[in-house]
Amino acid sequence: MHNPTARAPSAQPRGDSTASYGRSFLWGAAVSAHQVEGGNDRNDWWDWELIPGKIRGNARSGSACLHWDRYEEDLDLLRGLGLNAFRFSIEWSRVEPEPGRIDDGALAHYRAVLEACRARAITPMVTLHHFTIPRWFAALGGFEERKNLPHFERFARLAGTRYGDLVDWWITVNEPEVVAFYGYDAGTWPPGIASRPRALQVIANLLEAHALAAHALRETDRVDADGDGRAVLAGVAKHWVLLEPKNAWSALDRFATAAQHAVFNQAVVRALAGGPIELRIPGCKPAIREPGIMAGSSDFLGVNYYTRWMVSLFGAETRTARRGAPASDLGWEIFPEGLERAVRECSVFGLPMIITENGLADGTDARRPDFVRASLAALDRARAGGADVRGYLHWSLMDNFEWADGHEGRFGLYSVDFDHPEGPRMKRPSADTFADEVQRRR
Ligand code: FCB
Repeated sequence: MHNPTARAPSAQPRGDSTASYGRSFLWGAAVSAHQVEGGNDRNDWWDWELIPGKIRGNARSGSACLHWDRYEEDLDLLRGLGLNAFRFSIEWSRVEPEPGRIDDGALAHYRAVLEACRARAITPMVTLHHFTIPRWFAALGGFEERKNLPHFERFARLAGTRYGDLVDWWITVNEPEVVAFYGYDAGTWPPGIASRPRALQVIANLLEAHALAAHALRETDRVDADGDGRAVLAGVAKHWVLLEPKNAWSALDRFATAAQHAVFNQAVVRALAGGPIELRIPGCKPAIREPGIMAGSSDFLGVNYYTRWMVSLFGAETRTARRGAPASDLGWEIFPEGLERAVRECSVFGLPMIITENGLADGTDARRPDFVRASLAALDRARAGGADVRGYLHWSLMDNFEWADGHEGRFGLYSVDFDHPEGPRMKRPSADTFADEVQRRR
């Protein structure tokens, strides 16, 4: 019989919500291959970085953090903070440097990384597409061509086959709408195209790529690596951005805000949660598909939350930081409280959530300790309100190559000297703050 006083299994206790996370909650840090490994010279970003003016200060990823060689030390750093999860990506261009040719050495490398995770009781969360694509795939038209999707599906099948015994958590695609928007609308990332309708098609293709990869993983990864009864938990890491009208009194700004929220936030997650793909921007040819493969494609939603933007229909920049607000080194508003709203907004789609990225560009670390505390307090509130969040992964374990911002955006709990990446990673005070805050919630 229904007992109205019994707590639903997913509801969180109220009161001291910091005490309610439990042993299975994933506490970790995140990186991506191109940003940390070094020597990723077979992908589209490597070529892009060679073009003068594309990256701030004309920085190159180059040796990055030498994480390819130093992954064991880096996992020790993560474990030393008392964390139990590591999100990283497998660089497709290393594993499949030419179409159909598999590099066994690269495959063995990522297996060694996964074994090193296991040896340290670290749960791996593996991303298959984190912005970069192999040069050969870019030459075929990359994710702009729907006919190219089987290549990515094949890569997912390979990953599931080779690593399924060590991995349960898979991120198929990182931030589909971000990579599509910068690459095909703003044109500031490879391939440098400025066409909004094409950007919408790329988002649609990446959503389908996610679904194809998720189904491929379920076919190939049959081993429950951590013994919780699930062999595959597949999801997308979605950049969830808070948007508000720059001038609240302006109907046009409110219209622009609603339109951006509808397409970049809501429509993307609706498709991931099993709905149709319906991407519409006023005045632009929409991308509408009912591929039938989205249903059941996502086991969870990865939420990447950083900031909020003020939206205006007119002006040189359509998104700006709130005037007078505290800002990060990259000029993004420092708004950690917003994590609560981001999680609440994402809750309505009905998928369990993992915070797959959350962090701050702060080279001096003057602001990050408070940011970490405030972000986790926001997470406490969201969970106390019933949101089903199962993990929090800080971006990032260490400073890394921040895409078009080069070495300007320093997001690391550990700092890296990019002139001497072979030197020590230096622990920032915020790393201890994070470790303490995690410890309090165990
Ligand atoms: C996210 C990206 C990640 C990193 C952070 C700062 O959009 O997924 O690689 O660049 O922003």
